Order: sequence, then C-alpha cells, then structure tokens
Amino acid sequence: MKRLYSLIVVMVLALFLSACNKAPEAQQSDEELFVIGFSQLGSESDWRLANTRSMVETFTNENGYELIVQNAKQQQENQFSAVRSFILEGVDLIVIAPTVEEGWETVLKEIYNAGIPVIIMDRSVAVDNTELYLTNVGSDFLWQGEQAVAWLEDETKDMPEDQTLRILHLQGTYGATAQLMRTKALEDAAALHSNWEITAQLYGDFTEAKAYEVMTEYLKTNRDIDVLYSENDNMTFGAMRALDEAGITYGEGGQVKIITFDASRQALQYCLDGLIDLCVECNPMHGPRVEELIRQYRAGEHIPKHVYVEEQVFTREDLTQEIVDAREY
Ligand code: AHR
Repeated sequence: MKRLYSLIVVMVLALFLSACNKAPEAQQSDEELFVIGFSQLGSESDWRLANTRSMVETFTNENGYELIVQNAKQQQENQFSAVRSFILEGVDLIVIAPTVEEGWETVLKEIYNAGIPVIIMDRSVAVDNTELYLTNVGSDFLWQGEQAVAWLEDETKDMPEDQTLRILHLQGTYGATAQLMRTKALEDAAALHSNWEITAQLYGDFTEAKAYEVMTEYLKTNRDIDVLYSENDNMTFGAMRALDEAGITYGEGGQVKIITFDASRQALQYCLDGLIDLCVECNPMHGPRVEELIRQYRAGEHIPKHVYVEEQVFTREDLTQEIVDAREY
C-alpha cells in the first residue's frame, strides 16, 4: 500500500513537471486567441479591399487573434445576420464597418445585452445611445469634402461672376457617412456661390461599373460639364472611361476638372499623369488603429468615442513617381 502511494505521488509530480516544461508555443491553444467578429460591408472598391486586407493582416493567430470576416455585399440586412451569428458564437468583440448610418439601434442593443463590446470602423452609425458601442474609428468625411470645395474655390477664383460653373456630382451609396458628408460639403458650397450649379447628381454606389453605366447614359444627352465631383476613386475610373468613349477631355488642359476621393495608388498615378486634378485622401488602413483601440480596451484604459484619421490632399505638384509607387493601397 505504501509502495502504491509513493508511485501515485511520483506520477502526479511527473505530470506536474512535464506541464511546467512545455515549450511556450505548445501552450498556445485556440482558447487563448481573442476572437473578433468582423462585419465588412462589402468589396465595392479598391479602398474596401485594402481595408479588409489591413484587418486580416493585423488580426492574425500569430498576434493572438482569431478574425471571423463576413462580407455583407453592400446589404445592411446581411450585416445584421452576420452580427447575430457572432453573438451566437460568443466572440470576444465585434467590429462593424456599416453600410449606412441609419437602422442600427436594435441590433446594437442585442450585442450590448449579450455583453460584447463593439467598435464601429470607417463609416458611422446614427444611434441615440452612443453607449451601445465603444468607439468609432474612421475618416472625417466632412473635412474631406471641405478640402475638395476649398480647392475648387481657389481654382475658380478668377472666374467671372456671370459665368456658370457646371458641376456633375457622382454619389456613393445613399445614407453612408462617406456619401452624406461629401455631398453636404458640395451642396453647402454650391449654396454659397451663385454661379456654381450642380447640373446633375448621379448614383454610382461607390462602384466603377455603376458609375460607368450612369455616366455613359448621362453623356448621351449632356456634354456641358466643367467639374466632375466624384465621391470615390472607383467611380472616377468608371467615369473616365465613359468620358473617353464620349470624346470629352479631362484633367490638365482638358474640358473637365476631376475631383476624386480616396487617393489610391491608381488615382495618384492618374493625378501625376495629369488626368485627375485633385485626390482627397481617405485612408483605409484601419487594422493597426483598431488593434490599438482593442489593446486600450483590454487594458482598461480610456478610449475616445471618436477617433479620426489624419489625411491630406494631393494635386500633381505634391506628387512624384516615388510617392505614387510607395502608396500602400
Ligand atoms: O467609407 C469609405 C468609402 O467607401 C471610400 O471612399 C470608398 O472607396 C468606399 O467604398
């Protein structure tokens, strides 16, 4: 009996020691990963693809995360389903890149009641109770629009008052913060300038294909355009194709001045080549910013309710081939 007792003690000790001697990587199990459910709104633009890439490259298993990405294909209903599946899975945190601002109250309450923290990324949500999410990290879209109209004011300052500036406006997804704010900046400025005329507002849904389609149709009957104010780069690319086919020139020395938002590598290249006049930056590389906010949250530190990204504008004079080639997205 005494022998059996000694044997049991030795076995327990051996088990204990072997557990202590385990290599660090062997100790890393799935349970230790911080699980994030990410509801991405879609894949409508180069910006969006870069944004998804930034998240995927940041939240890796090696960095201690498991990232579950759901692409909502530009449908808010799909985002609701994704978020509800994240609640059922019991993720540690949810990141939402919302399609549009309205309609989030109910589902955010469901997440809140499940005790899961939420970070709103890129665009914003319009809810009365901002306690329903931790923070909103993204661009200051109104600032972006204001930079664009300030540039246009300067460009046209010598224009005679009795000459009309005809602005064609390509709009992104209705109700998205990026659309609402960029539109507001232009409409506010047009209201202040008696000779600025927004000749048409065309719906491009932030995609190249839609913009090409509506522009092609529009140009069949309207060719008098001085400025194209396009709410993202991909719509601009579609519009440029339609302008080419209609034989309308643009950019430096051309008929139409082009203002675009995002400042992706391709748009900057066109700007350097003299085809686009102004690129307003919208930076999609939010992965590291979201990670820093999660670190602060887990450390119990104070997190600001809104984190804006610092951005800039580019004209041809600000660019070199090195700058374009070094562009991350
Ligand atoms: O919300 C950011 C906007 O959405 C970007 O300007 C655009 O390219 C994207 O689709």
